[in-house]
Amino acid sequence: MSIAEKVKEKAKKDVKRIVLPEGDEPRTVQAAAILSREGLAEPVLLGEEEKIRSAARETGADIGGIALIDPAASEKTPAYAEALYELRKAKGLTREQAARLALDPMYYGMMMVKLGDADGLVSGAAHSTGDMLRPALQIIKTKPGMKSVSSCFIIECPNKAVGEEGVLVFSDCVVMTCPTAEELAGIAVAAAESARALCGFEEPRVALLSFSTKGSAQHALVDKVREATDLAHEMAPGLLLDGELQLDAALVPEVAALKAKDSPVAGRANVLIFPDLQAGNIGYKIAQRFAGANAFAVLQGMAKPCNDLSRGCTVEDIVTTAAFTAVQAQEG
Ligand code: ACO
Repeated sequence: MSIAEKVKEKAKKDVKRIVLPEGDEPRTVQAAAILSREGLAEPVLLGEEEKIRSAARETGADIGGIALIDPAASEKTPAYAEALYELRKAKGLTREQAARLALDPMYYGMMMVKLGDADGLVSGAAHSTGDMLRPALQIIKTKPGMKSVSSCFIIECPNKAVGEEGVLVFSDCVVMTCPTAEELAGIAVAAAESARALCGFEEPRVALLSFSTKGSAQHALVDKVREATDLAHEMAPGLLLDGELQLDAALVPEVAALKAKDSPVAGRANVLIFPDLQAGNIGYKIAQRFAGANAFAVLQGMAKPCNDLSRGCTVEDIVTTAAFTAVQAQEG
C-alpha cells in the first residue's frame, strides 16, 4: 500500500472537518467532492457561493452536501473579526483592519481552525507559500513546547533500498530559510515526530546532513550542523540521530562503513535534515524530478494543522494533503 493510501485509510477512521479557503478554485472544488464522496474528510469550501457552484458545474464536481461559506455573508464573521482583533491588537492591528481581514477567506479559514469550527486547513493552490504561511503563523501559532513551525516532506521513492522501503522524511524544505543550530535541532526532533505520526516509522533514524562526514571538512557551516546534532541529542535523548553526515553516508551502507562506521544512523537513515532552506528545497525537488519520487508537504510544530499546496498541484495532491491534515488533527 502506498503512503497516500495508508494515510487515506487512517483519515477515514475518524473523519475531520477540513476547511478549503480557495473554495472557487477548480481543482479545490473537485478535491472537495472526492474528499466528501470517499469519506476522507468533511470539507468546507469558502468563497462566494455562486462562484463555487460555477466552478463545480464547469468541472463536473458533485458538491451536494458540502458546506459552502461566504465570509461576506456569514453570521460568524463579526465574532471572528473580534477574536482576530484580540489576538493581534498588541501587534498593532486595529478593529477596522480585523473586520476587513475576516472577510478574506484565508483569514476566515484560519479563524475557523483557531476557534475549533474546523479541525484543519489546506490552501495554496492559488496563493504563494508566504501568503498562506504568514496568517497561519500569526493566528494558529506553534504548539506548546515548540519554538518554531517548520515543514517536512514525505518522500516516496521508487528505489525501495533507501529509507523505510523507499519512504523518507525530508526537513525543512519549505519554511525556515536559515535556521540557527538550535532551530535546526528543533527541526530534527519535530521531523522525527512527524515520521512516527504520519509515516508510521517505529524507529525514526535521523541524519543531519552536510557536505562533510564526521569531520572530513572544516567550515563554520559544518560546525553549525555539529552543534545542532549535540543540541538535538539533549532535546531528545532517546532518539537515534547523528551528524554531520553527507547524503551518501546517511543512506548507503557501503559508504557509511567507510566514512562513519560507528554511527547508529549512517547507511540506514530514514529522516534527512537539511542544513538550510536552499538545500532542503532543492533536495526534495531533485528527489521528485530525477528519482520520480512522490512528495507530500506538511507543516510541523503548528498548534493545529494547516498545510500548504504548491500552485502546480493536482486534484489528487489536494486530496492527499487534506488526508494528511486530517491525520495530523487526529494526532492532536
Ligand atoms: N515558526 C513560528 N513562528 C514564526 C516562524 C516560524 N518558523 N516564522 C515567523 N514566525 C512568526 C513571527 O514570529 C511573527 O509572529 P508575530 O507577528 O506574532 O510576532 C509572524 O510569524 C510573522 O513573522 P514575519 O517575520 O513577519 O514573517 P516573515 O515575513 O518572516 O514570513 C515566512 C515568514 C513566510 C514563513 C518566511 O519565513 C518565508 O517566506 N519562508 C520561506 C517560504 C518559501 O518561500 N518557501 C519555499 C517555497 S515552498 C515550496 O517549494 C513547496
